[in-house]
Amino acid sequence: MKPTWLETQADDDKQLQSELRQAGAMPRHIAIIMDGNGRWAVERNLPRVAGHEEGIESVRDIVKAASQIGIECLTLYAFSMENWKRPRQEVSILMTLLEKYLRQEIRELHDNGVKLKSIGKTNALPKSVQKLLREGAEMTADNTGLTLTLALSYSGRWDIARAMQVMALDVRRGTLSPEDITEEKISSYLLTSGMPDPDLLIRTSGEKRLSNYLLWETAYAEMYITDALWPDFRRNDLYKSLLDYFGRERRFGKTSAQLLDSDNPKSECGYLQRLMNMFYAK
Ligand code: FPP
Repeated sequence: MKPTWLETQADDDKQLQSELRQAGAMPRHIAIIMDGNGRWAVERNLPRVAGHEEGIESVRDIVKAASQIGIECLTLYAFSMENWKRPRQEVSILMTLLEKYLRQEIRELHDNGVKLKSIGKTNALPKSVQKLLREGAEMTADNTGLTLTLALSYSGRWDIARAMQVMALDVRRGTLSPEDITEEKISSYLLTSGMPDPDLLIRTSGEKRLSNYLLWETAYAEMYITDALWPDFRRNDLYKSLLDYFGRERRFGKTSAQLLDSDNPKSECGYLQRLMNMFYAK
């Protein structure tokens, strides 16, 4: 068996991660809209596929870093339902890259305690990809480390509509009564059921849109938008987003004064700034 990610982690990165853990309460769930692969390639006069290929290197680094630092859930928007409208050749390349990634990574994800899941209308994906996703989910089902969820052929509205249909059927069958339809109940019918809602939503490439991603689940997520294009977004960028997150005051509708009395873990700014400077100096 290959050495684990913790065994091969560089000492200075371990140190940074340990300081970050002390700087604030880690988000339990990070969701990412990976955007800008195409622009990354165009800027370099390369075909768009080169951007997707380099984007996979970012996926590898971010998954590893999130697992090493102890994040519970990482959900990546890898292919939206709307992405099916892209040129046939690009869709086909993306599916091939996804298949290659799964073939290469599932074993390693498993050996590092990652639980692999997927959300979306996955029966629209090529059969070979569906099979790998099924096998990966089965193999890693009992793992207790990072839950890595790939949103594939995913649409937030589609998932909400699908959940409503199932709920309506349950009402008709008599297994659900309308009075029991609470927010928690609706969450339990979504494909993200069982996961905490995202605390931090990252979007790369500077676009300020939700793009139909986790619409119900991100109600209280802190948004972090960076100009970095996804193929350039690596672990140090993730650390910057965490520092930014630690500085946020998550009020959930309350006032700042109310939060002072509670155990809202807000970080000390000078310390954070020192850490930030360390990253920028790199
Ligand atoms: C957005 O960039 C990115 C995508 C539509 C696909 C994301 C896919 C990957 C990172 C690779 C495959 C994923 C996994 C999990 C193996 P864009 O093409 O919309 O970029 P643009 O807006 O600059 O054109």
